[in-house]
Amino acid sequence: MRDVAVIGVGMTEFGELWSDSLRTIWAKAALAALADAGVDEVDLITVGCMSSGLFVGQEHLASVLADELGMAGVPSARVESACASGGLALRTGFAEVASGLSDTVLVTGVEKMTDVDGSDATYALGTAADQEWEGFHGITFPGLYAMLAMAHMERYGTTVEQLAAVAVKNHANGLLNPHAQYHLKLTVEDVLSSTMVADPLHLFDCSPVTDGAAAVILTTVERAKEINGKRPVVKISGSGLATDTITLANREDLTELKAVRLAADRAYAMADRKPGDMHVVEVHDCFTIAEIMATEAIGLFEPGEGGAAAAGGLTALNGKIPVNTSGGLKSKGHPVGATGVAQAAEIVTQLRGEAGQRQVEGATVGLAQNMGGSGGSSIVHIMEVVK
Ligand code: COA
Repeated sequence: MRDVAVIGVGMTEFGELWSDSLRTIWAKAALAALADAGVDEVDLITVGCMSSGLFVGQEHLASVLADELGMAGVPSARVESACASGGLALRTGFAEVASGLSDTVLVTGVEKMTDVDGSDATYALGTAADQEWEGFHGITFPGLYAMLAMAHMERYGTTVEQLAAVAVKNHANGLLNPHAQYHLKLTVEDVLSSTMVADPLHLFDCSPVTDGAAAVILTTVERAKEINGKRPVVKISGSGLATDTITLANREDLTELKAVRLAADRAYAMADRKPGDMHVVEVHDCFTIAEIMATEAIGLFEPGEGGAAAAGGLTALNGKIPVNTSGGLKSKGHPVGATGVAQAAEIVTQLRGEAGQRQVEGATVGLAQNMGGSGGSSIVHIMEVVK
């Protein structure tokens, strides 16, 4: 396998982007990444998108988007793994460069979610749950994650204040990210007094509905060293992909995200790294309980200790292991197909030392964890500065 580097990152603002269409926001992110990398030709485009058909009525996206960029003719492939579609697009590009099939890949993720009303957005998202065993009975994602939260609270004593601490931290980080959807300073009290969505999850425990796109450019480490100038070369040293049952009813244990643990174990093994080596981490906090469970599943904390770790400041920007410095899905927003690519963009930005006010000093190794649905799939990437 060849060593693979990320040489460019780009993203749009996340939020309600009324004046732009899906293809326009996608092109903005792609052009920003190409400009950042200093390249204008690629061998392949990958597109992570969960549901452009339901959100904007457009399928056959890979061709539409290559054409939008003036690149009709270039190979282009859309991949889908619900909210982990962006992470899967990154892994697909990584495999292409590592194997030698492609030398340079434009990896992208996009979702335009606000052109439909809230109930249609909820329906579209719900298609990532098990339709026969979950959707048919009317449950939506806030409800599924509320059940995971209840199980975690029952088994480990995790509290609503600990859940709220995740939202408070991520919104504090999001205040430092100009791309974030919600620039809000929150207190635990604000979270606990916000509207109840699905007990025990309040409005501020939930990620929002978001439009946005993100892109990164991959090439070989060898070529990156030639074109990167003085910027640090960041390589992808590990990539892990795993699945679990989609339906919660078939899970062995509702308090563990098994797909996340398996994907992380595979990424650590490929990178020859362990959790304690990480300096900065982005996890899939679609709900506050998801961050707590993800930090446990990737091995930062023992099972049951993720809530206390968040409330104790261990995952804060200046904590032992900063988690979701971008603001996470909670504050930055969650355009589902774009999220996995945006997470990678944040880790690369941190490892290059270009994260401005939210920079983790001296960060050279980082991890991005993306998740589909309520944990039916997960993808973990480990990135590090090439010495
Ligand atoms: N965080 C912070 N603020 C939020 C928010 C969130 N997650 N969602 C909405 N808001 C704000 C809106 O900006 C709006 O503020 P305003 O009144 O000042 O304009 C207000 O809350 C109400 O917004 P609205 O869009 O009417 O909320 P809603 O009740 O339709 O939707 C949720 C709220 C939580 C149900 C919706 O954001 C949601 O479904 N989130 C989960 C998305 C999801 O499942 N993703 C996939 C994960 S697997």
